Amino acid sequence: MELDRMCRLLKIDQPLPGVKVVKTSWLSACIKQKQCVDSTAHELDLSPLIRKRKQEFENDSEKEEVNNGASENNKEHKPVKMWHSYKRTKVEEDEGVDPDSDYAPSDGEDPETVQGPSTSSTSSTSPEKLIAKGQWICTQSSKNVSENMNEHITSKLEEMVKKYQSTSDQWRAFGYQKAIQALRKHSKPITSWEEARGLPGVGARLADKIWEIAESGELRKLNEFNADEDIKVIELFTNVWGAGAHTARQWFQQGFRTLDDLRTKAKLTHQQKIGLKHYDDILDRMPRTEAAAIEQVVREAAEFLVPGVIVQCCGSYRRGKPTCGDVDVLVTHPDGKSHKGLFSKLLARLKESGFLTDDLVSAEDNGSQKKYLGVCRLPGENQKHRRIDIIVVPYDEYACALVYFTGSAHLNRSLRLLAKKSGMSLSEHSLNTGVIRKGNEKVFEGTPLPTPTEESVFRHLGVPYRPPEERDH
Ligand code: TTP
Ligand code: MG
Repeated sequence: MELDRMCRLLKIDQPLPGVKVVKTSWLSACIKQKQCVDSTAHELDLSPLIRKRKQEFENDSEKEEVNNGASENNKEHKPVKMWHSYKRTKVEEDEGVDPDSDYAPSDGEDPETVQGPSTSSTSSTSPEKLIAKGQWICTQSSKNVSENMNEHITSKLEEMVKKYQSTSDQWRAFGYQKAIQALRKHSKPITSWEEARGLPGVGARLADKIWEIAESGELRKLNEFNADEDIKVIELFTNVWGAGAHTARQWFQQGFRTLDDLRTKAKLTHQQKIGLKHYDDILDRMPRTEAAAIEQVVREAAEFLVPGVIVQCCGSYRRGKPTCGDVDVLVTHPDGKSHKGLFSKLLARLKESGFLTDDLVSAEDNGSQKKYLGVCRLPGENQKHRRIDIIVVPYDEYACALVYFTGSAHLNRSLRLLAKKSGMSLSEHSLNTGVIRKGNEKVFEGTPLPTPTEESVFRHLGVPYRPPEERDH
């Protein structure tokens, strides 16, 4: 039996890890011996079929990259990074988060997101040539991104991504994300199974799903997930700040089913306790007016401590979004030195006034930058607790930090990839030129280019400058 057919019959996407598939001879043997006999001799070896499936999947990824014109040196694809692809906003005690690995394996234009270490990449091309060759998200205004003609399909697939992410099935989440990207770029609504199958990154089973939604407006699998009480509980737990899919599953396995169970019986980290305490508030997005008021509180405190300080709310707020998941406040000082020592004084002052209510990560040192992750609340009645990040940076890193914290994360990945392919390297600290890499490893960090403004960062990268509202990719 073909793997595809078996999966279809079993109504699964691929064999579940640890689950054995046996021939009917096992059942006969059990009946004959009137007991559950050892299955080893009757098991099917699925590994060649799985390998074949994986190969098909990788071929699809490759097809997509070729379509996007940025595939040189990337013939070998190993989706190694997808395991870390989600919830980078959370500090997960159980999943190592590598701050430098910016990836979300959803971007067709980002071959890095799915490839393993390449053998050599010391050679580089100018950014202009790279831009001329492929479609780079970072060169486009987010306002010009064409309307999604398959919203009715992508919205359901996005729900599937969330389900798979919360059940730690990053492989499938990855597959769906690729399909979503392809559907978004498709200039017309899907009208046949073949059309769906022809999309980059879409194999037969995903085409089945897409076509099912296109035809019926429903996806049985999603409905099953939605009705599955166990998955609902795991999702509930995954939304606790500081808990990942792994912890959520562990809690579930320990028999916990409600947030109250966690509060009263689970062993929680400090962050998870805070996450639980403000569970609803943290999940809720705030109106941008509230984000502005929060920025103002930080500005007044910083200005009191060091006159002339720059306090800038970045993230979704700066991109002009009507609602914000958190407030990302960047602080620096134009004299290049007064930012020193400001971080701890500012936090102390904001705590004293009762504005900062809970610390999540009280001081994350990132080279010369300092970052605080916590919870705040505006003064007054009925104010909700909100997530806040405060980042203090030296002035010579201001422009790169501003580009980074303004985002979007998608745009950042695209900019970083372009820099990398051009022999440069972009981070929240600097834009370096003359970087030497062996494989994915930097053997020479390069030299920082002068980047006094955001415009200069874009210019060095050969990318037309975009105001923040056009960076909402
Ligand atoms: P976030 O606050 O997580 O994102 P956001 O402000 O864009 O959206 P939200 O309203 O949900 O808060 O991160 C702030 C910026 O940091 C983000 O815009 C870009 C950058 N960033 C990355 O480049 N990569 C990442 O993985 C994350 C989490 C953030
Ligand atoms: Mg934000």
